[in-house]
Amino acid sequence: MVKRNACVFISGSGSNLKELLKSSREYNFPVNIAYIVSNTKRAKGLKLAKLHKIPFRVLDLNKIINLESILKELDKRKISLICLAGYMKILNKKFINKFNKKIINIHPSLLPKYKGLDTFKRVLDGNEKLTGCTVHYVSKKLDSGKIILKKKIFIESSDDAKTLKTKVQAKEYRAYSESIINIFR
Ligand code: GRF
Repeated sequence: MVKRNACVFISGSGSNLKELLKSSREYNFPVNIAYIVSNTKRAKGLKLAKLHKIPFRVLDLNKIINLESILKELDKRKISLICLAGYMKILNKKFINKFNKKIINIHPSLLPKYKGLDTFKRVLDGNEKLTGCTVHYVSKKLDSGKIILKKKIFIESSDDAKTLKTKVQAKEYRAYSESIINIFR
């Protein structure tokens, strides 16, 4: 199978990246992770880039970033999908416009509910019985692009933000890979 190249944007631990890397090694998975971008050199997920010898770039968002140079880099590497996986910065609108391929994100709630940060605490404060994760296309409005896939979990009375995170993330790992398969089906 000829795989397309994907780029994963991270900011933190990179557990979604790790799962995507696992999926990408499967023969039938439609993408190969060819490039990793982080907004911080402290992202633990960068260790995976080094371990798997995947080229990566750390963006210094305190400096003015040359969008054209990033777009050129993505073009050079024939990237046809960007996956945001715990990328904690809002993507520049011009970048979204100019990168004329797919950009997707995974969010730890059942969108359109609980957009933004601090999701688990807000879900618990909202006395929800159900929560989950959503994979969606990235649009110029935060956490609002077209939904690709959602996975649900039941919230138990014993759950706190930490247990909820563990349960939701376990769903995320399958949801992200399944979404990518669906996109390129
Ligand atoms: C995930 O839970 C995702 O929903 C959110 O950020 C978290 C990233 O975790 N957007 P990781 O870096 O993939 O471990």
